[in-house]
Amino acid sequence: RILILDFGSQYTQLIARRVRESHVYCELHPYDVGEQFIRDFAPKGIILSGGPASVCENATPRAPDIVFQLGVPVLGICYGMQTMAAQLGGAVENARVREFGYAEVRARGHSTLLKDIQDRVTAEGHGILDVWMSHGDKVIRLPPGFKVIASNAASPIAGMADETRRFYGLQFHPEVTHTLQGKAIIDRFVHTICGCGTDWNMPDYVEEAVGRIRSEVGKDEVILGLSGGVDSSVAAALIHRAIGEQLTCIFVDTGLLRLNEAQQVMDTFARHLGVKVTLVDASERFMQALAGVTDPEQKRKIIGREFVHVFQEQAAKLKNARWLAQGTIYPDVIESAGAKTKKAHTIKSHHNVGGLPETLHLKLLEPLRELFKDEVRELGLALGLAPEIVFRHPFPGPGLGVRILGEVKREYADMLRQADAIFIEELKASGWYEKTSQAFAVFLPVKSVGVMGDGRTYEYVVALRAVETRDFMTARWAELPHSLLAKISNRIINEVRGVNRVVYDISGKPPATIEWE
Ligand code: XMP
Repeated sequence: RILILDFGSQYTQLIARRVRESHVYCELHPYDVGEQFIRDFAPKGIILSGGPASVCENATPRAPDIVFQLGVPVLGICYGMQTMAAQLGGAVENARVREFGYAEVRARGHSTLLKDIQDRVTAEGHGILDVWMSHGDKVIRLPPGFKVIASNAASPIAGMADETRRFYGLQFHPEVTHTLQGKAIIDRFVHTICGCGTDWNMPDYVEEAVGRIRSEVGKDEVILGLSGGVDSSVAAALIHRAIGEQLTCIFVDTGLLRLNEAQQVMDTFARHLGVKVTLVDASERFMQALAGVTDPEQKRKIIGREFVHVFQEQAAKLKNARWLAQGTIYPDVIESAGAKTKKAHTIKSHHNVGGLPETLHLKLLEPLRELFKDEVRELGLALGLAPEIVFRHPFPGPGLGVRILGEVKREYADMLRQADAIFIEELKASGWYEKTSQAFAVFLPVKSVGVMGDGRTYEYVVALRAVETRDFMTARWAELPHSLLAKISNRIINEVRGVNRVVYDISGKPPATIEWE
């Protein structure tokens, strides 16, 4: 397995994903995890990520010395290369001109890392790579034992290698897709240079994870809050595969779910997979708690609080439960570790379940902690979950509560559910569901005048929102075809009583957010 030491680059997670895509297990840890940790990890290779710091300043982050003493291959990327150069006796200079964006570099010599990897060959027979650069500093003098393996006009030392010690540095970013041969370079490092096999694959992982859960949990009972989302669904299927009847899932119908959602969850998990699921209809309780409340933040707080109460009541009935299972995934773990304090870590796990573990005195079981979202999906499929569940758009915790603007009422939720179902059905039928990252309807409690048949109507408005995004931090509104929008609008107005107008949201994030509240 490969250890990635994180110096804070925005691309560090991508390095981990690329390594996993090469079917090699890897973990990402802060650069200062400590020598003992690195020793115990026993990596077959180490990758030093990029980062925002400059080697030329005082007291900049350095790779622990052990990295260069273990005798395993090391690949430094961008800042990782610069600190490697500085620490091993080379020199780094603060370049006056930043090099940012696409660049061409020429592969030089016969390095194991880049040999025969190229996008094209010049008339003189030099291999050329199209790469992505993003750096201010550059290496100006090689450390002893190193040779140049890539260069261009802006960075005469765009790549370096000490083949004896198997230390490599790249000024450009092989982990981003803009570097066309990036995957080949990562493959070369982890397989050829580090000698890792291709043993990271889902069917094996399922067996391994099942074994781990069994030995961790023993004969104890486990509870899991099922939300119908991808992560908790996959966690439930995996834990059930491992310990069967010892798992009880709790599914809370808040009254703020999508059309037939509770039914679908029961069909999939209880009927099809044979998982024990307790369905709690708490919709009346949620509606009462939300009556008269219009402020979005207050609504969120009330929904979170009620959820915890309902969950606790159910959990208290399971006297033998010792574990609380959660669908925490690797990006959540990395994010919390990013703060680099144990404290931040705990705060995040608590935050994820709204304080559940504290009050329930249960141990945490998080079987997806080391998986990326696409791996969670792959795992779900390997466990036999339907693609409709595994590739479902995300749905916020507070559900329709933040998609009914202002006061939440059951009658509004019912209208919204129908409109939303029509929207999603038509997106799926036209192939647009897969092309968008998230799509949903929003209920606007304002009335406008319309005409239907010969009569005047005075009814509510539904807004449609569909966005494309990779990380949900920024998003573009989806350019759905007008003919599709027309069809959806017609259906909603004809089929949903109480709605006579449909609008399409054409705001990006930022400045708007994806949800309306
Ligand atoms: P915004 O509206 O902030 O949403 O652009 C970004 C993504 O987060 C989801 N979201 C939530 N998810 N609990 C959740 O589990 C929440 O309270 C919550 N609020 C927003 C939203 O659906 C989108 O995918």
